[in-house]
Amino acid sequence: MPNSEAGQGTRTAVIAMASAGLVGLAWMVEASARQNRTRMMHRRMVELALNALSAGDPVTARHSRRVADLSYALGQACRMARRDLPTLRVAALLHDMGKIDDRFFHIVHSRKRLSKKERSEIKSHPHESAHILAPLEPEHPGIRAIVSSHHECWNGSGYPCGLKGDEIPLGARIIALADAFDAMTQPRKYRDAMPLDEALEELRNGAGSQFDPGLVELVHTPAVRERWDDVAQRDLFAERNAVSGVTE
Ligand SMILES: [Fe+2]
Ligand SMILES: [Fe+2]
Repeated sequence: MPNSEAGQGTRTAVIAMASAGLVGLAWMVEASARQNRTRMMHRRMVELALNALSAGDPVTARHSRRVADLSYALGQACRMARRDLPTLRVAALLHDMGKIDDRFFHIVHSRKRLSKKERSEIKSHPHESAHILAPLEPEHPGIRAIVSSHHECWNGSGYPCGLKGDEIPLGARIIALADAFDAMTQPRKYRDAMPLDEALEELRNGAGSQFDPGLVELVHTPAVRERWDDVAQRDLFAERNAVSGVTE
């Protein structure tokens, strides 16, 4: 074959390969844009659900966001698989979604001490949360098990199923700690916010009974402790206003 014909053949092959490469690249860009749009849409749906949960109730909205941020920080610290972190975040944001059920309205908004019957009624909210979040299961595998177990205790004394130790999904053990820490470090009508050291000591008191002891120790490491402190401080002004009746 003359040299010029061979050169032509090589050029054609190079052009064909370059075109195929460009088509492949365009397909990948399109696929990644589609994936980003899906992710964005999913994020908006989660925000929508959070708005529904906390409609007219900024205290619940802030609590949910703080529990999500605390949980995420602890999830990262315990080297949870990267693909499980978004599920942990969504589960933490919406862990109390079940309380949206009409049956719980008077209990959630009660200003009186709960009766025995009310306390036992509210214990079914984790199951309700799992039921409501079931459509997210394909996107977030395990989310139902996490939210339905967020009131289980390490020693089996929690609810609704009395699961013990590792039977409780890791995400649920993390959310349980974050939820308890948030309850202590925010002000209530009858007491101010608990200082960080006291709250951490309370968590240590519950290690092995209420909480996973390994996770409690991780919360005491400087990196997690610092991030949890930041989260605990950030809404204090708004929360103190809320408990003293200043409308937002
Ligand atoms: Fe709950
Ligand atoms: Fe909570």
